[in-house]
Amino acid sequence: MNSDPLFMNKVIGAVLFAGLIAMTGGFAADMFYHPQELESPVYAIGGNAPAETQTAEAPAEPEPIAGIWASADVAAGEKLAKKCTACHSFDKGGPNKVGPNLWGVVGGARAQTDGFSYSSALREMGGTWSVADLNAFLFKPKQFALGTKMNFVGFKKPEERAEMVRYMRDLSDSPIPLE
Ligand code: HEC
Repeated sequence: MNSDPLFMNKVIGAVLFAGLIAMTGGFAADMFYHPQELESPVYAIGGNAPAETQTAEAPAEPEPIAGIWASADVAAGEKLAKKCTACHSFDKGGPNKVGPNLWGVVGGARAQTDGFSYSSALREMGGTWSVADLNAFLFKPKQFALGTKMNFVGFKKPEERAEMVRYMRDLSDSPIPLE
């Protein structure tokens, strides 16, 4: 044994002192450095991107609404139409505004409204507004009709496009069948 009678006291003191240093060191580190958990890895590798980054961006192509539009909620569609009424009227014989009157648009000819000056993008496209076309147009107007004058971001949710189409379908002299 060591002859110093205070040896054990010194050892204990040294251990406590070392512990104190370690603790204050830890506090100091916490004070100056705030580690933040990353929500997702900074580097998404290959096809294994985490689910979060996949859902953050809307899909590039619209999900079809063929199976859901006919039973979609008309009243919900009418509410969504408030996003359109700055530029469109929906009633028969309603005025053209920034955009054309939309009476009879579902199943109707493209660019059919008299007295509205359509972009060549829509005029030259021809054909009729099928549900599938409206689904694509309302998803991202400028993706469906490059050069269209319609400045609307689009509805990312298929349910919303379905409700919108369902609402507009009734506003016509000859509504297309609900199927
Ligand atoms: C900021 C104004 C604006 C808003 C908001 C807007 N539109 Fe349009 N829309 C236009 C313009 C302008 C055109 C004509 C586009 C062209 O000629 O390229 C158009 C064209 C259309 C057409 C084609 C009509 C046809 O006769 O071929 C449809 C369908 C349509 N809009 C639906 C909608 C719906 C539904 C909404 C709301 C969800 C909406 N738009 C919101 C401006 C707007």
